[in-house]
Amino acid sequence: MEHKPVLLAEVSNYLKPEPNDLLIDGTVGLGGHAATLLSHVLPGGRLLGIDRDASNLELARERLSGFGEAVVLVHDSYANVTDHAKTHGFTQVNGILLDLGFSSVHVDDPERGFSFRSDGPLDMRYDRTQSLTAEVIVNEWSEDELAQIFRQYGEEREARPIAQLIVSSRAKIPIRRTTQLADLIAGLKRQHGKTHPATQTFQALRIAVNDEFGELERVLPECVNLLKPGGRLAILSFHSLEDRIIKQFFKNTPSLKEVTKRPIVATREEQIENPRSRSAKLRVAEKI
Ligand SMILES: C[S@@+](CC[C@H](N)C(=O)[O-])C[C@H]1O[C@@H](n2cnc3c(N)ncnc32)[C@H](O)[C@@H]1O
Repeated sequence: MEHKPVLLAEVSNYLKPEPNDLLIDGTVGLGGHAATLLSHVLPGGRLLGIDRDASNLELARERLSGFGEAVVLVHDSYANVTDHAKTHGFTQVNGILLDLGFSSVHVDDPERGFSFRSDGPLDMRYDRTQSLTAEVIVNEWSEDELAQIFRQYGEEREARPIAQLIVSSRAKIPIRRTTQLADLIAGLKRQHGKTHPATQTFQALRIAVNDEFGELERVLPECVNLLKPGGRLAILSFHSLEDRIIKQFFKNTPSLKEVTKRPIVATREEQIENPRSRSAKLRVAEKI
């Protein structure tokens, strides 16, 4: 399935891209938001796109090839944005976008290990050069550490029993496959509605593998330093803890003013058309 950019019109309206603007897309993904933003900054403007996932970055490269030298793409975590911004002349930018988390292509490819619905290795890395995988966490982290991430990142009520079950099962046979883990959890937890019992555990593992909250906390102050006065930072988040980190950061940073009084959410039409947009929240702040 193709990845549909979430809240595309709203992101563009809030970032207000204009010719000659310099923009940074810290999670360029498949280049959906970037293509629209770039179309507004020409002539004269440029966009720096960063992604931790080399295969998504290649898809963005193809999609954005028509913009020529107006696009610079870099394979790295957005947490290192300042180094790349300096190298490519993107200090003092007009706008920065972060569209957090995974893309549809991650979930659709069983080999990436993000989905409990299809069998694959327990991987879940955005950056496949990194050594920590979901398999390492599931087979090597202590029961306490597992329970902690399931509770904190997955908001899983049965965090402790799931952690206990994993530890006792892996003593008999290592847990290497997505469906192996999903079946274990389904044997312990009842399904509520349409939500698979392993949903929250998988979410927690993905966040832990990629240190998603840590990376977000590291990048926020970097973004503020890179924005010129009047420049805007737009962040799309999909998890209540992420939204809390962003909200607190906007509130506690004297040089920022939040321009979205409440987070913007997708319309009913968009939610029907693109299920991924259902949990999306957009917050935008302006540098004073
Ligand atoms: C929701 S997708 C972005 C989709 C994009 N806005 C589009 O319209 O195609 C999120 C992307 O962020 C990337 N990503 C996740 N964590 C990252 C990080 N710390 N640094 C850079 N990219 C990251 C993922 O690999 C994924 O491609």
